[in-house]
Amino acid sequence: MFKKKKIFDKFFDLIGQLEANYPKDPFGKKPTTNIENYYKKFNEVKNINHPEIEQLEKDYGYSINKEWIDELALYTQITIKKSKLNYQHGRLLYTVLRRYIEDKNYDNFINVLETGTSRGFSTICMSKAINDGEILGKILSFDILPHEKKMYWNVFFDNYGKSSRQDLLQKWKKELKNIIFIQGSSRTQMKKTHLDRINFAFLDAEHTYKDVLSEYEYVSQKQIKGDIIVFDDVTPGTFNGVVKAVRKIKDESIYEVKYIKSSDKRGYAIAKKNV
Ligand SMILES: C[S@@+](CC[C@H](N)C(=O)[O-])C[C@H]1O[C@@H](n2cnc3c(N)ncnc32)[C@H](O)[C@@H]1O
Repeated sequence: MFKKKKIFDKFFDLIGQLEANYPKDPFGKKPTTNIENYYKKFNEVKNINHPEIEQLEKDYGYSINKEWIDELALYTQITIKKSKLNYQHGRLLYTVLRRYIEDKNYDNFINVLETGTSRGFSTICMSKAINDGEILGKILSFDILPHEKKMYWNVFFDNYGKSSRQDLLQKWKKELKNIIFIQGSSRTQMKKTHLDRINFAFLDAEHTYKDVLSEYEYVSQKQIKGDIIVFDDVTPGTFNGVVKAVRKIKDESIYEVKYIKSSDKRGYAIAKKNV
């Protein structure tokens, strides 16, 4: 019997180690560039028009405060990378979640689930929607990256030294109150939450057909008519796995799927459960 216990302990130790096993220095071992270059990138993108996002805001009747989202984007979205910077998913999430809150398809509390926290941009935008909608809600946000470990994030803030995600998001204390950051792979961690209901989900972690579908399958069984899943990067040619998974979901007709683009290179899908 003791031997058996030892084997179990070893097994759980191993699981623990796997969860702690995240990529070290995922965004580099030193600041990627200087503050001026990050600001230059920020100024290049912050005033670009995105007609489909603007139309969505008109149709749904809500839009996020521009100054607020721009400042959050400067801390969490303005990075040095090959593809064009685009933080319109924050506007979309805020708008769709405000509309969901207004439609009152819940008792007095909502559960939001996010896969892929990264630096925290999308989760903070959703939390603002909860605060501005003046309801109670919790967001569970999953990432393999830890919340309290200091590292470089490929953002202007790196020029002041390493920081944790918690440090990076210190300005957004009101929004942080609604969020539970969970480290580990969505594949193993989501199932441990035992949520009865997931009113609203944003899936933005591993962009493969298999991962998107398995996250969808977990979320969808916890949703009722009117509940929502937003998919990021539904972009043919770049994320074909995500595109294929969303097409399969649309074809099943359990969700009504609306496609939105903020540019030729960045698409999203809003799926609303209809049964
Ligand atoms: C595109 S980023 C998320 C961006 C974030 N939603 C935002 O808007 O700022 C994808 C993130 O998913 C994380 N990730 C990848 N595979 C994952 C998995 N299986 N489980 C949890 N997180 C994962 C990565 O570490 C990365 O931070």
